[in-house]
Amino acid sequence: MSTFAPEWLSLREKADAEARALDLVDRLREIDLNRDPLVVRDLGCGTGSLGRWLAGRLGGPQHWVLHDRDPRLLSIAAATVSGVTIETHEGDVTGLTGADLAGTSLVTASALLDLLTREEVEGLVGACADAGCPALFTLSVAGRVEFDPAEPADAEFEAAFNAHQRRVVDGRRLLGPDSVAVAVEAFERRGAEVTTSPSPWRLGADQAALAGEWLRGWVAAAVEQEPGLAAEAPDYLRRKLENGPRVVVHHTDLLAVPR
Ligand SMILES: C[S@@+](CC[C@H](N)C(=O)[O-])C[C@H]1O[C@@H](n2cnc3c(N)ncnc32)[C@H](O)[C@@H]1O
Repeated sequence: MSTFAPEWLSLREKADAEARALDLVDRLREIDLNRDPLVVRDLGCGTGSLGRWLAGRLGGPQHWVLHDRDPRLLSIAAATVSGVTIETHEGDVTGLTGADLAGTSLVTASALLDLLTREEVEGLVGACADAGCPALFTLSVAGRVEFDPAEPADAEFEAAFNAHQRRVVDGRRLLGPDSVAVAVEAFERRGAEVTTSPSPWRLGADQAALAGEWLRGWVAAAVEQEPGLAAEAPDYLRRKLENGPRVVVHHTDLLAVPR
């Protein structure tokens, strides 16, 4: 099982907050959600970044059910998502069924879909559809990055990174940049109205720590996938770090509403 350091989640929280697609939240506020109280389930909640961003925007009394398989992250989330009542569930979200989601007003996830397989995403979509609840799945990787300045080597590192995102881990083929397309198709098959919206990180001098950390991880993953890049990676990385780096990392948010 891969683990996510709370320090990494904390480092990205501001960029995530600035990237999230507000138009989808506006659309969500127009929907007649069951608000007695509003019950939100955050799947793969990590330290609760999405709850800290979304709860105030949804307004009214809320009960958040936080799901994660990492007990350390869950306990941070439970202690730091405020203004709502909280319940935590430790475990694998990919086994959730429609019956498990009964009574939920809204299912959310952030930076989760791309870590799952096609079967797992289709299973979660089926659970949401069976429970008849809307789903807001945010910040899934789109597989595109834009550096400023760009250079020819960007394309080969990007291709290797995307292949790494789609790798097989413990017999599971991860979706990486294909996760949103798979989710859209699955929701539409179940008759939902689906809207997607871009949610790019725009990293520059004011996010230098995140940009540097992200870039090191991005290059390391590319090299792990394509060992032939190892020779040029140190110079490539040094050039990028000298430049800031300035980069747009594309993500996609998705809102699915049962018709
Ligand atoms: C990239 S982090 C995102 C955390 C948080 N949603 C955020 O936006 O900061 C992915 C989270 O999903 C959790 N996770 C991944 N796969 C999971 C699974 N199958 N079941 C439960 N939690 C999972 C990880 O433990 C981690 O907390």
